[in-house]
Amino acid sequence: MSFTVAIDGPAAAGKGTISKGVAAHFGFAHLDTGLLYRAVGRRTLDGTDPIEAAHALTPDELERGDLRTAKIAQAASKVAVISEVRAALVDFQRSFARREGGAVLDGRDIGTVICPEAEVKLFVTASAEVRAERRYLELNAKGTDVTREQVLADVRERDARDAERSAAPMKPAADAVLLDTSDLSIEAALAHAIVLIENKRPATH
Ligand code: CDP
Repeated sequence: MSFTVAIDGPAAAGKGTISKGVAAHFGFAHLDTGLLYRAVGRRTLDGTDPIEAAHALTPDELERGDLRTAKIAQAASKVAVISEVRAALVDFQRSFARREGGAVLDGRDIGTVICPEAEVKLFVTASAEVRAERRYLELNAKGTDVTREQVLADVRERDARDAERSAAPMKPAADAVLLDTSDLSIEAALAHAIVLIENKRPATH
């Protein structure tokens, strides 16, 4: 049986932590679809054509530990506006979503384009300031030398590019549940997501 949870939202809203927590709680597989765009973006930094990079992408490239830098995030959001890049990544995401045992995918267009038939759709958001502060603390803990102002500017720039592009723009699906985590701890947001999913799961008896 397949069961898909789609979790979308802007940069650093808490999608990753909520998705991992949901996957661990229900025993679902988890795909962070941002890594696909980050891996393509990383390849373009050494001059590779983005469309070719998207077609040549292999799952093991997603395992590389160096994809979560601000530079690669910017490169990712630039390749993500190209509709041919997005199209090359659709099949992989859809087959992941329909695997046996349940799957959670987080990104920008999962509930709208990749899995419009997902059983549960969440749109996780928070104010740009709260999100930038979370990302700043994350980068700081990894020893990255950035200022709060740089992180906020990066988050705002990517949000604008992601929301304004014509190919699969970031937006909540009409039937998505909105989860604003500005005044909510990530633990509380996860607990909320778990209850929502529990209510949508088919009865096992
Ligand atoms: O972790 P964070 O929320 O900062 O970013 P991410 O989820 O790793 O995504 C990096 C970039 O990939 C985003 O800014 C989007 O431009 C793009 N992306 C996308 O277009 N569609 C997705 N389903 C996931 C990511």
